[in-house]
Amino acid sequence: MPVLPILKYPDSRLHTIARAVTRFDGELNSLVRDLARTMYHASGIGLAATQVDVHRRVLVVDVSESRDQLMVIVNPVLVEGVGESELDEGCLSVPGIYERVSRFDQVVIRAQDANGDSRDIAAGGLLSVCLQHEMDHLEGRVFVEYLSRLKQTRIAAKLGKQSRRPR
Ligand code: NI
Repeated sequence: MPVLPILKYPDSRLHTIARAVTRFDGELNSLVRDLARTMYHASGIGLAATQVDVHRRVLVVDVSESRDQLMVIVNPVLVEGVGESELDEGCLSVPGIYERVSRFDQVVIRAQDANGDSRDIAAGGLLSVCLQHEMDHLEGRVFVEYLSRLKQTRIAAKLGKQSRRPR
């Protein structure tokens, strides 16, 4: 169970649209385990498969303080979104950048678990924002794309420079 490398913005692979999961098998289980391990290792609250260059509709989330409330979300669909919430967001693919993004305050997401069982998840606050952020990744969207063109250019330049630096 390795910790997987996380793609960093502006890597174009982050713009890939993920495909639905159709087989709930051992391969999916090991992807879920690797995603969870990678998310916890990086101290993140959410990670989409897109971010580890696996273009399947799978994400893991844990917004708990105790870091023991793992949610495994497969093939998520937004059923309902109401209200407006603005939180500073960060992303493991955009290290060191925190910016305010406007999202639904409350959402209902229909998703399967790792066994393929479907359920509706009602979420508010941080979990709601986190789910919307991670679901964007599956559509090839990174949160900085909600910011002004100028900010995006600055962030891309900053991160691009970092990744070219020799180790
Ligand atoms: Ni992210």
